[in-house]
Amino acid sequence: MAEKVAAKPNGKLGVLVVGNGAVATTFMTGVLMTRKGLAKPVGSMTQYDKIRVGRGENKKYLHYKDIVPLAELDDIVFGCWDVYPANAYEAAINAEVLKEKDIEPVKEELIAIKPMKAAFDKNYAKRLTGDNTMGDITRWEMVERLREDIRNFKKETGVERVVVLWAASTEVYVPVNEKVHYTLADLEKAMKEDDRENIAPSMCYAYAALEEGCPFIMGAPNTTVDIPAMWELAEKTKMPIAGKDFKTGQTLVKSGFAPIIGTRCLGLNGWFSTNILGNRDGLVLDEPANFRTKEVSKLSTLESILVPENQPDLYGHGNDEDTQYYHKVRINYYPPRNDNKEGWDNIDIFGWMGYPMQIKINFLCRDSILAAPLCLDLVLLSDLAARAGRYGTQRFLSFFLKSPQHDYTQDEVPVNHLFQQYVMLKNAIREMGGYEADEEID
Ligand SMILES: NC(=O)c1ccc[n+]([C@@H]2O[C@H](COP(=O)([O-])OP(=O)(O)OC[C@H]3O[C@@H](n4cnc5c(N)ncnc54)[C@H](O)[C@@H]3O)[C@@H](O)[C@H]2O)c1
Repeated sequence: MAEKVAAKPNGKLGVLVVGNGAVATTFMTGVLMTRKGLAKPVGSMTQYDKIRVGRGENKKYLHYKDIVPLAELDDIVFGCWDVYPANAYEAAINAEVLKEKDIEPVKEELIAIKPMKAAFDKNYAKRLTGDNTMGDITRWEMVERLREDIRNFKKETGVERVVVLWAASTEVYVPVNEKVHYTLADLEKAMKEDDRENIAPSMCYAYAALEEGCPFIMGAPNTTVDIPAMWELAEKTKMPIAGKDFKTGQTLVKSGFAPIIGTRCLGLNGWFSTNILGNRDGLVLDEPANFRTKEVSKLSTLESILVPENQPDLYGHGNDEDTQYYHKVRINYYPPRNDNKEGWDNIDIFGWMGYPMQIKINFLCRDSILAAPLCLDLVLLSDLAARAGRYGTQRFLSFFLKSPQHDYTQDEVPVNHLFQQYVMLKNAIREMGGYEADEEID
């Protein structure tokens, strides 16, 4: 499967975004502005990165588009679903991420992006009050209506292919339930029986997308496609899936910085991460059940890079049970900051003979500005993967994700180390471009 070269794209690429909030509108506005030559897609690997292909005398450093047949930005047609009826222009203004001068030139195109009615259940995001929803319908009805939406979007826009990207709010935590989430037959049964506890609305979007032959990307930490039943569906429909949770501010820093500690064999007693955030995402995450989903995702990053079992002297002390360093993540809702999140990391390390030291990182980032290029890359690379005949979980996309999917039923370990993830990304691009995957992950 992996060695297949990607076929050239035909026609337009539809991008259906679940959610029309800060991330979605920053992504869409940026693509439209770039198309007009009025902005630069900074931070996007597919637009900027150059990687080596070939070796020795045949070695070349090329942009991705010169290695693989990526869809062009000009070929993208956007659509979306949201709980609120505001069009993408109004939503972009409301989000207050971008200045009006960076939105106005594409106002008409944004106004034309009107959200379809959301498949929504208030129990999954209590703080949202919008009424642009499908109403109180069963999970299976949600699936059917979403499938119809995708088909209508294709018909109306004439796009050849569609990718579905979840950039909607984080849902409450749905623990993996072996009786429901392990086989496709059980999942379908639960959807048909309207099992609202085990079937999140996001699963209906994913199911509908895959059945309609669209890759599905989960940008929030929801477990949606991170369950064996969805892996089975992705195999059956031969569609790529990717998730979870865009790797933006603090976790990006963590997955890039932790390797410094690990590579130099320094010790770690504790890592405390806290954030203040004031956008709607922060509001939803202020609800403990929604934060739980995020916490699980954020915590997993460090543990697979600095592994206590592998280096008990360095990482086997620090918390209550003295089996591991102390790792804590907090997000606090603080409206005055809106989308401009501030993150603090306090890292208690130790060196030669156990002498303690501290590292402080204060990242004043812009959440959606960091997330938008990831949306673009995930969409273009998932579309590419589908054309290369790759299906199921796309591990090479881990580079963009905070809590990368992996087969936990087989004790497969996720790769969280930023530079190892980059190797997987480069190798996949090489393979899909007909070159040899020539870098190892040690
Ligand atoms: N910005 C980042 O750095 C970052 C990083 C990682 C993950 N994320 C995740 O991306 C998602 C979007 O973030 P944001 O800042 O744009 O949030 P936001 O609140 O501005 O936008 C989310 C939108 O999703 C809509 N929505 C909620 N449930 C829906 C449903 N069932 N169907 C359709 N629409 C629905 C909401 O009405 C809202 O407009 C969040 O889950 C967030 O946790 C963001």
